[in-house]
Amino acid sequence: MAQGLKRRVYQVLEVAHPDDRVSRNIDRALVALIVANVLAVVIETVEPIHARYASEFWVFEVASVAIFTVEYLLRMWVCNEHLSLARDGPIEARMKFAATPFALIDLAAIVPFYIALILPFADLRLLRVFRLLRLLKLVRYSPALATLGRVLRNERRALVGALLIMAAMLLVASTAIYYIERDISPDKFGSIPESMWWALATLTTVGYGDVVPASPLGKIVGGFVMIFGLGMFALPIGILASGFASEIQRRDFVVSWSMIARVPLFARLDGLSVSRITNLLQARVVEPDTVIFHKGDPADNMFFIATGEARVEIEPEPVLLGDGDFFGEFALLNDVPRSATVRAVTQCRLLVLDCEDFRGLLADDENLRRIIDEVVEQRAAELGLDLGTRFDPESG
Ligand code: CMP
Repeated sequence: MAQGLKRRVYQVLEVAHPDDRVSRNIDRALVALIVANVLAVVIETVEPIHARYASEFWVFEVASVAIFTVEYLLRMWVCNEHLSLARDGPIEARMKFAATPFALIDLAAIVPFYIALILPFADLRLLRVFRLLRLLKLVRYSPALATLGRVLRNERRALVGALLIMAAMLLVASTAIYYIERDISPDKFGSIPESMWWALATLTTVGYGDVVPASPLGKIVGGFVMIFGLGMFALPIGILASGFASEIQRRDFVVSWSMIARVPLFARLDGLSVSRITNLLQARVVEPDTVIFHKGDPADNMFFIATGEARVEIEPEPVLLGDGDFFGEFALLNDVPRSATVRAVTQCRLLVLDCEDFRGLLADDENLRRIIDEVVEQRAAELGLDLGTRFDPESG
């Protein structure tokens, strides 16, 4: 009973399944509450409004923190339903979960309130500003922000490179202008750090005009700094734009039916089933020679190869899988860790299916289940494994 409830709470709070109305509505309500909270923090700073509605603001704050606290505790309770944490002990799983970025954001959204309550001498104004951190809770619900996060992560090397170039240009420009202008305008170009203000305003093409070089040589250098600034500061924008474009391209191939049609397993499904699966699959592009997962890893999804080749590293002979093959089903069906390491041989465009969705799909589709069962039995024999107790989709 408690286990069933826990599972349901997990599905509602943590699994964004498109067909789950309750989960969708709770997500919407939480998003509305977060937005209302941020608006309240902003509006509260208008003194006449605050003075008039102080008690309403307080009631709203207490109610919001109560809801966010319950949400946080529930997420903590159900966290070991995540397959990646299922193998840890209850305390270890919770500690790992508490250290994830989302859990830290959830904690930061409520902690200032309790600090103010316990420590009456704390700076309340500062703590109020911390309430704006609640805005970060929205990241969980926004695929666009998640995409931005992925782009920043993917392009971090290029972005750090661009940042270094910008820092070097700032240094060169401010040093040059300092030596040229220090005797003419010592109040504005008296040191390299002081000259950096001019260099930054010029490189970024903001040009406040509060500090300008007076000598002809200073103006010539200024001209060069402007032109280089234009090019260099456009660099990170270009990097981000192309990162976004390739990220969207990666996502786009999922929605194409032709990709799904490459997987023989899906070829026999009717249009309705294919469109359902299309919504469940996620794209992942894996570069050659990348390990997709290691033997012994906990398993929470399975993979279909849309294009490319992957190698299952088993003894005595590794098995090569190609377009339309699938892998990673074995651990999900038998509730065991990965039975083998799988490595991309060429660049692979993979379709990833979450464990929950896979189980839902098998429970709904007898045909699919039979085909997968056959493959699994054959693979188990090749691996020399006894299948033992199997997951039964009928019982959930
Ligand atoms: P899983 O155990 O989740 O992770 C390793 C995967 O390798 C396994 O699922 C299967 O999908 C795949 N695999 C294991 N043995 C074979 C085999 N003999 N032939 C093809 N694929 C295999």
